[in-house]
Amino acid sequence: MPLEPISLNDGNKIPAIAYGTGSKMKFHDITQYIEQAIEMGFSHIDTAVFYQTEKYVGKAIKESGLARSELFITTKYPREVPIQKSVKESLANLGLQYLDLYLIHQPQFIPDLVEAWKEFEKVQQDGLVKSIGISNVLNVQQLEHLIKVSKVTPAVNQIELHPYNYHKMKSIMDTCSKHNIVVEAYSSLAPITTYPGGPVDAPLRAAAHRIGATPTQVIFLWVRAKGAVIVTTTTSEAHMAEYLAVAELPALTDEEVASIDAAGAKGPPSGIVTRLRLMNTKEKLLGVVAGTMFMVYGAFGLGRLMYPY
Ligand SMILES: NC(=O)c1ccc[n+]([C@@H]2O[C@H](COP(=O)([O-])OP(=O)(O)OC[C@H]3O[C@@H](n4cnc5c(N)ncnc54)[C@H](OP(=O)(O)O)[C@@H]3O)[C@@H](O)[C@H]2O)c1
Repeated sequence: MPLEPISLNDGNKIPAIAYGTGSKMKFHDITQYIEQAIEMGFSHIDTAVFYQTEKYVGKAIKESGLARSELFITTKYPREVPIQKSVKESLANLGLQYLDLYLIHQPQFIPDLVEAWKEFEKVQQDGLVKSIGISNVLNVQQLEHLIKVSKVTPAVNQIELHPYNYHKMKSIMDTCSKHNIVVEAYSSLAPITTYPGGPVDAPLRAAAHRIGATPTQVIFLWVRAKGAVIVTTTTSEAHMAEYLAVAELPALTDEEVASIDAAGAKGPPSGIVTRLRLMNTKEKLLGVVAGTMFMVYGAFGLGRLMYPY
């Protein structure tokens, strides 16, 4: 079952798919979408102080009327503010007594990761959060050092993961696996949203055809084949249903996973091809008008240069 909960190294369990409230949702009142996501079956909500969506997640949780134990809530520590203060502010925004998962959002901006992690261990000990983890830790030495000098090993590492960056992420993923750290994958739909028309499309389509799924669902099955939690989002009810229906699909075969890996290793399509594919009709039209004006003015300028009088 592709969306069965996953065991963490601290004995807790994490739902295999999360509804994210960052990326294009951040800084917006998205209460209605979170409510809809919970209603449709998402139990895992991913937010962050930086997204400014905690209060909307809090509203949606309250509206849902669900017992606290039926939801899994993740938020992320930003930087600068003392951790003890920040976690209490997050809990107040969310209207919760505890978080299921608390992550250091961007360790590259944290002056001393080891010291910050000690504070994380403390908020866990105090019962304010069940599990603690990191996000965007891509440096193997940094992670090994953190584990070596800490009492608690991070339960998760939330990173960008899709077929086009998998080969780059492989060494940090292997290190996570060695220490039983669950990888959470965000922006996995990049082959569809950011790099359409690339080498990964063909193996995605082939697997989608075999199992009667969509390419989106195949990407999520690929994420699960890598052992990672899917962290995605959408404002569309149809996409919510499509994402959750992954639970009913069979796993990809080893050959399908290998052919997606091999296609991903070729890299995404070139910037210009991708830009053109992502442009809507209005943008394409504007491009043609701008291009024509550029050529006319260019020709006019050249004419003036050649025949100044
Ligand atoms: N830790 C970090 O630093 C970090 C960084 C980035 C993100 N995140 C987390 O991960 C979450 C998801 O990130 P993401 O948005 O990059 O994830 P994603 O799963 O790669 O992309 C989701 C987007 O894909 C679009 N989409 C779905 N199906 C599509 C299709 N068939 N064609 C075109 N577009 C389609 C959705 O748009 P529609 O609304 O139109 O369906 C949605 O905006 C964030 O909300 C956040 O919680 C964390």
